[in-house]
Amino acid sequence: MKGKFIVAIDGPAGSGKSTIAKGIAQHFNFLYIDTGAMYRALTLKAMEEGVDLQDTNKLQLLADKTKIDMKYLSGNALKVFLDSRDVTLAIRSPEVTNNVFYIAKDAAIRKKMVNLQRSLAKRHKKAVLEGRDIGTVVFPDADIKFFLDAQLEERAGRRFKELKERESKTKVSFKQIEQDISQRDKKDESRKVAPLKMAVDAIYIDTTNLSIKEVFQKVREKVENAL
Ligand code: DC
Repeated sequence: MKGKFIVAIDGPAGSGKSTIAKGIAQHFNFLYIDTGAMYRALTLKAMEEGVDLQDTNKLQLLADKTKIDMKYLSGNALKVFLDSRDVTLAIRSPEVTNNVFYIAKDAAIRKKMVNLQRSLAKRHKKAVLEGRDIGTVVFPDADIKFFLDAQLEERAGRRFKELKERESKTKVSFKQIEQDISQRDKKDESRKVAPLKMAVDAIYIDTTNLSIKEVFQKVREKVENAL
């Protein structure tokens, strides 16, 4: 096995990326890097500080004075820190989810985030990164790339189930989640900088009718063969 090994996993919301990326990282003892969490953390800070999300100059200044960090607990559980404050749960709120777009479409902010992602991965040498642009922008020379996908209804169903498990009394409906995901897909796919796109050399997996275990086995086998 070479010294470094980068696994890139991209795909839309609800495609199973996080579960698979975490599982693969744990199985092979690689570092897990959740790149979406970084965009989410900066979004949270902008919202808390009342920065106008349309004001790109202010957002870029905010990014310059923000420190985002990840700490790993056992089993690849990840804690996300925003200027040393644990924001692991706060960055998952629907408000943050709906506003990430403003942060994720800014080229200067993306450059900063990409640098952070690359330096984290390089420091640890072997890493699994999940996001939207890992195979196309962050690590176009990744050792292996996957693009996980699933039909919209299935992805919304997964998110709805997750939400119900977390907040049993949630008032958010399945339809609402489906609409939100569909809008987020469109925004992620159509933005000018680093849109959600499958790298030409990525392995495409449609997870609609597959269990997590089945997807994991497929990805694990491919990674094993590439090592
Ligand atoms: O993976 P996630 O749902 O936590 O990502 C949140 C948002 O961040 C997503 O809507 C798009 C953006 N994102 C991105 O633009 N590039 C990445 N590499 C990861 C996430």
